[in-house]
Amino acid sequence: MVYRGAYKVRVEEKDEPRIEHPNDAIVRVTLGAICGSDLHLYHGMMPDTRVGTTFGHEFIGVVEEVGPSVQHLQRGDRVMVPFNIFCGTCYFCARGLYSNCHNVNPNATAVGAIYGYSHTCGGYDGGQAERVRVPFADVGPSKIPEWMDDEDAVMLTDALPTGYFGAQLGDITVGDTVVVFGAGPVGLFAAKSAWLMGAGRVIVVDHIEERLEKARTFAHAETVNFKECDDIVVEMKRTTEFLGADVAIDAVGAEADGNLLMHVTSTKMKLQGGSPVALNWAIDSVRKGGTVAVIGAYGPLFSAVKFGDALNKGLTLRMNQCPVKRQWPRLMEHIKAGYLKPSDVITHRFPLEHIADGYHVFSNKLDGCIKPLVVPSAA
Ligand SMILES: NC(=O)c1ccc[n+]([C@@H]2O[C@H](COP(=O)([O-])OP(=O)(O)OC[C@H]3O[C@@H](n4cnc5c(N)ncnc54)[C@H](O)[C@@H]3O)[C@@H](O)[C@H]2O)c1
Ligand SMILES: [Zn+2]
Ligand SMILES: [Zn+2]
Repeated sequence: MVYRGAYKVRVEEKDEPRIEHPNDAIVRVTLGAICGSDLHLYHGMMPDTRVGTTFGHEFIGVVEEVGPSVQHLQRGDRVMVPFNIFCGTCYFCARGLYSNCHNVNPNATAVGAIYGYSHTCGGYDGGQAERVRVPFADVGPSKIPEWMDDEDAVMLTDALPTGYFGAQLGDITVGDTVVVFGAGPVGLFAAKSAWLMGAGRVIVVDHIEERLEKARTFAHAETVNFKECDDIVVEMKRTTEFLGADVAIDAVGAEADGNLLMHVTSTKMKLQGGSPVALNWAIDSVRKGGTVAVIGAYGPLFSAVKFGDALNKGLTLRMNQCPVKRQWPRLMEHIKAGYLKPSDVITHRFPLEHIADGYHVFSNKLDGCIKPLVVPSAA
């Protein structure tokens, strides 16, 4: 997959990735996916997204080659690779902040590194490809347990851990009312995870009917279509005895719909880095003293967030890119115990050769698409 400019992706032959450092591995990709985050790149929203780069931060595969210092992986191992690239030893990695690693990105004071996610995030080529270079091969990837399906494993490289992380950031206590903005894969997993953390009510907000349907059947949530109410914040207040929810999770990010002014000033006029509509709805929908967890992606540029309201309501705002590997042990337990079936959100499987169709369908939410996989032909 090669980026040719906004809304244009193509399949091209590129040079094979090579071992560039003793702790690199080369992984032959057996399954990848397209993330909602890739759509921000595809729409040209992310600074320094260079033509010719390869996207893809959700992938699993088989180790083909390892550098001379790699100790934990061997040729032939079936591995899943977290979307973060991280060193494992810096100040931040030592504290489990893998998404904030200081050693993998020239922009490290602002953001960590992510496969296939622009030069803002380190400029690494990603896994929507037949092969990918995996730096710090002893640190990021893990062998996939024998009992785990490929389609479940690929969901563990981003979407599931990120949704689960959103619920964790919400600091949910038993009986809490949790409202999740966004019924994409990340929001669906956040809603499902909220129950595992003791929520008493889970409400999912979106405007795409089949996604709300999925929120009801897969995540057992109540749902609200924001296009069908005059004011979603009033609706959230009404349903919570006019106090507001205890916890709100923003699983939408910088390309939120729902407010024309915000849309025009961000996407069209570039006066702000993205539309903070969902985040502002989250701030307005929680009760005083509540928590807003932000896992929807926002870029490095300014956005018009209602910070004063957050302050005056005494809210706790928590956010980050997900430190994926930190979530794996607990998620493995939940999957093994049958509490989570990650592949349930997958709707489409595109051959790598047809990845442009994949982007088009997923970006426009056509054909009921919730989560598209990318399947390399050699897999
Ligand atoms: N923090 C992280 O580590 C991390 C990891 C993965 C994804 N993300 C981000 O999470 C977000 C969701 O990812 P996804 O794969 O589920 O994407 P997606 O595009 O499939 O889903 C986004 C959903 O939000 C809905 N939406 C749009 N405006 C809304 C609004 N105002 N209120 C409520 N819903 C609204 C859309 O209809 C869509 O269903 C993206 O911003 C993505 O970049 C962050
Ligand atoms: Zn992602
Ligand atoms: Zn580090």
